[in-house]
Amino acid sequence: MNYEFIIVEPQFQTYVALIRLNRPKELNALNLQLMLELKNALVSLDENENVRCIIITGNEQAFAAGADIKQMESKSAIDLLKIDQFETWDQIRKTKKPIIAAVCGFALGGGCELAMTCDMIVAGESAKFGQPEIKIGVMPGAGGTQRLTRAIGKALAMEMVLTGKFISAYEALKSGLINRVVPDDVYLDEALKLANEISQMSPVSVRLAKESVLRAFESGLQEGLYFERKNFYMCFASEDQKEGMKAFVEKRKPDFKGK
Ligand code: CAA
Repeated sequence: MNYEFIIVEPQFQTYVALIRLNRPKELNALNLQLMLELKNALVSLDENENVRCIIITGNEQAFAAGADIKQMESKSAIDLLKIDQFETWDQIRKTKKPIIAAVCGFALGGGCELAMTCDMIVAGESAKFGQPEIKIGVMPGAGGTQRLTRAIGKALAMEMVLTGKFISAYEALKSGLINRVVPDDVYLDEALKLANEISQMSPVSVRLAKESVLRAFESGLQEGLYFERKNFYMCFASEDQKEGMKAFVEKRKPDFKGK
């Protein structure tokens, strides 16, 4: 598939695909076409049996500096309602395979929201996270008030959303927004390490486990526990469960096939 604003490498490494946001002059501002391309790429990688984990990254200056302000500037509420761009974002959230955001530089507004829509975030030391929409007379619209608050708690989320202040990679780590911080020159390698580790696991149980963790954000405890239990039982329908447990007993490394 030909993309204008992203670069996709389905076999970046064995079982690991890479999507690079690629509007460097605009700090990877997320225009409608880029988001559509991203959604299409994720749908295609989700169907690709040779992909077990996906990394989304930008470049050293920016993961993404937000939704494209120039594209939105003159729009009316009804224009936005008709375009319904966040429908595309919902599709990203529905990706079944794990997605790691490898973030360096700015992850602001929609860029921070995109990173939070991914399942894990690995950051370079220069990463800056923020929801600065308040400074341009709006507010987060792609999950920022919800996902940020769930991730880092009300106090800091409220401050970030109401003042637009950025937090550093280390503050993001301390507050639970991200998984790890490494020097800028290895942030992608570190994300790849994590992706490789996950790719060694059974794709069936990875999928069911991802669904279950996400359910913790979307339901009460009892419903979440039932959901988890069903998915746990479902793992026993897979050959990978037999292989995983047999390998443990035989003291060898399992060879998971995703079946
Ligand atoms: N949309 C469109 N263009 C953007 C952009 C954005 N979100 N962010 C940066 N750019 C463009 C700039 O306009 C500039 O283009 P020109 O060279 O043509 O002028 C280019 O990228 C480089 O940016 P700067 O010159 O501003 O770079 P800087 O290093 O001085 O500042 C920055 C970097 C602090 C990130 C600054 O660009 C900035 O504040 N960007 C906007 C951040 C923002 O408000 N994001 C939220 C957007 S709204 C949103 O995301 C809504 C939602 O919830 C979905």
